[in-house]
Amino acid sequence: MKNEEIARNRAQMPKRTTSIIDQRSLQNSHQRLTDFLQKGKNVLDIGCGTGVITADIAKKVAPGKVLGIDENKQFIESASNNFKEIDHLAFETKDLYKLEEENQFDVVTAARVLQWLTAPDMALSKMARATKPGGHVVVLDYNHEKIKWEPEAPTSMNHFYQAFLNWRSDAGMNNAIADHLAEMFSAIGLTDIEISVQHETVSKKDPDFQPKINIWAEVAESRGHQLVADGYLREEERARAVKEYREWIITSAESMQMYLLAVSGRKN
Ligand SMILES: C[S@@+](CC[C@H](N)C(=O)[O-])C[C@H]1O[C@@H](n2cnc3c(N)ncnc32)[C@H](O)[C@@H]1O
Repeated sequence: MKNEEIARNRAQMPKRTTSIIDQRSLQNSHQRLTDFLQKGKNVLDIGCGTGVITADIAKKVAPGKVLGIDENKQFIESASNNFKEIDHLAFETKDLYKLEEENQFDVVTAARVLQWLTAPDMALSKMARATKPGGHVVVLDYNHEKIKWEPEAPTSMNHFYQAFLNWRSDAGMNNAIADHLAEMFSAIGLTDIEISVQHETVSKKDPDFQPKINIWAEVAESRGHQLVADGYLREEERARAVKEYREWIITSAESMQMYLLAVSGRKN
């Protein structure tokens, strides 16, 4: 299998991970984008998943038109179904690499998507091409190498996490993409580049601490099986990571920070 094909397989979201993306909203998960969402703007949301953030975008820019695309047919069916009452919002099953739109949108965004691609530069060029002159490209993404757990997560979870990073990078994905976005924007001629820190931090005092910090138990319970099948981890190591991480959440966990940046640029 070629890298591109391996990455596509690995980027497929297992069913139970939709509970993670379904809890998101524009306010809690793509806040920087709101600075670009004036009424009447036309917006393209790439890799929109089940469309929860996209629907919030549509409410904000109404009567501006909003299109959400994702290559996952089930996500698009669910998005189209759940948000059919919003008439200036549409969803389409589409591979972002096949995007042919040119100079059409005021804002083109991709949240947590480029991290899953082997050719993020090509994806970014497509995004810039779809943007109107004077419009903006806004990308939100992680540097997975900079996660912080306080105190240190159990060794079994660190082992799982390292296997997860290796599994991703061996497929050609960039684990540190957040810190490369600005130079990628500049390389394709976008200007007025701004970097905004959007780290996802949860601490014990937060009401949603448990479900949020549990994300890595969820990942180990879902994608973890792919890692085992692909030979990056033994099943007992995966299961131990889930068990010990859950115990750590109850007994010791204080906080977790996932390093996330929003980078914006203007098309001239
Ligand atoms: C982690 S989810 C992010 C969903 C949403 N943007 C959010 O921030 O919650 C990544 C999404 O990118 C989509 N995706 C990955 N590769 C894609 C491609 N080549 N074309 C279109 N969508 C893609 C996946 O199907 C998935 O829905």
